[in-house]
Formats: sequence, C-alpha cells, structure tokens
Amino acid sequence: MTFGPYAIMASGTGTNAMALIKMGKACEVAPSFILVTNEGSPLREVAKEEGIPFYHEKSRVKGVDISLEEKILDLVDHYKVKWLFLAGFLKILSPSFLKVFNEGHSQSQVINIHPSLLPLYPGLGGYKKAFTNKDEKFGHSIHHVTEELDAGPLISQVSLNRIEGESFEDMVERAKQSENENYAHILKSFIRGNL
Ligand code: GAR
Repeated sequence: MTFGPYAIMASGTGTNAMALIKMGKACEVAPSFILVTNEGSPLREVAKEEGIPFYHEKSRVKGVDISLEEKILDLVDHYKVKWLFLAGFLKILSPSFLKVFNEGHSQSQVINIHPSLLPLYPGLGGYKKAFTNKDEKFGHSIHHVTEELDAGPLISQVSLNRIEGESFEDMVERAKQSENENYAHILKSFIRGNL
C-alpha cells in the first residue's frame, strides 16, 4: 500500500497521538492535521509547538455524528489526507463516511488502536474486562477500520502477561506504554512502505 498524507483523530488523554506525532517528526512526515473531540486536550499545545494544524470539534450526538463527519471530510479534502489514524477517537464512523474516505482503495485507510486482543472485547472497557476476568493475557490490537465495530483486518497485536497482584492502574499503565510504542512503530512501518 502506498502511504500518503495522514491525520490523527483523538478524544482522550492523547498519549497515542503524541507517540504518533513524535514518530512522524522522527521520520520527517508530520500529520496534516490533528482533530480532537474533547475539551482541554493536551494535544492543542503539542500541535502548536510542532506547527501542526489543530481542530477541536465538539460532538454532542451519541453514536454517529454526521455533522462532525462532514467537517472531517472537508478537512480531508482540504489537506488531501489519504490515511486517518484514530488514537483513542471515541466516535463511531458511519459506513457512508468510510465509503467516501476509502473510495478507490481495496483496504480501509482508517487505522485504529483498540484496548483488547480482538476479537475479544470489542467496544468499550477492554482492559477493565480483562482485569476483572483475570485473563492470563491482555493487550491491544491495531486494525483497519471497517463498518463492523472493532472487527476490521488486524495489522498488529501485542499481548502482555497478567502479573498476579498487580493493580488495575499499573496494568493499564503497562498496557498504554505498549500501545504507544507499537502504534508509533506501525506508523513508521507505513511511512517506510513496509505495510
Ligand atoms: C487507548 O487505550 C486506546 O486503545 C483506546 O482509548 C485509549 C486512548 O488513550 N481506544 C479505544 O477505546 C477505541 N475504541 P490515549 O488518549 O492516551 O491515546
């Protein structure tokens, strides 16, 4: 697959987005824009420092937000973005959005990181479920985004071992660190044409 201009979309604390920005900088291919849906995102400051266009778009709609999707498509068009990296982006993208964005491509060019070993635990709370169920292994998945929630073709999975007696907070810290490292590594692989 040929790599091209990309953007990052996030809704959370932004650690994955920051890891992607850092790797993009190291590879001299910065994202065309960063879009967040949450108030007070630390990514605003990072984007400013790095000179990356930054957009904050609130979403008050539960589930698919057509008006937000229209704004994203306008930005995609404006910046000629070919790849979207979802980094804790908590909106579900509609089938029509994916169809328009992926037009002419055999594989979805929207990439997501998900906090579970898919197909286990699609949806929210992957780490909490693995912790509560005392799963021996937990981890994250990086995948192409398709119409079916958290079920697109896998690109990478990293699995970690449960440590007896570990707190949920420590487990999540380990898990997030592994997400940040691997997502950045996957971006580098795309940039270098290895994926
Ligand atoms: C990450 O754990 C990511 O896997 C998850 O949100 C968190 C965002 O953290 N993504 C999803 O749940 C997507 N359905 P971050 O804001 O620190 O990158």
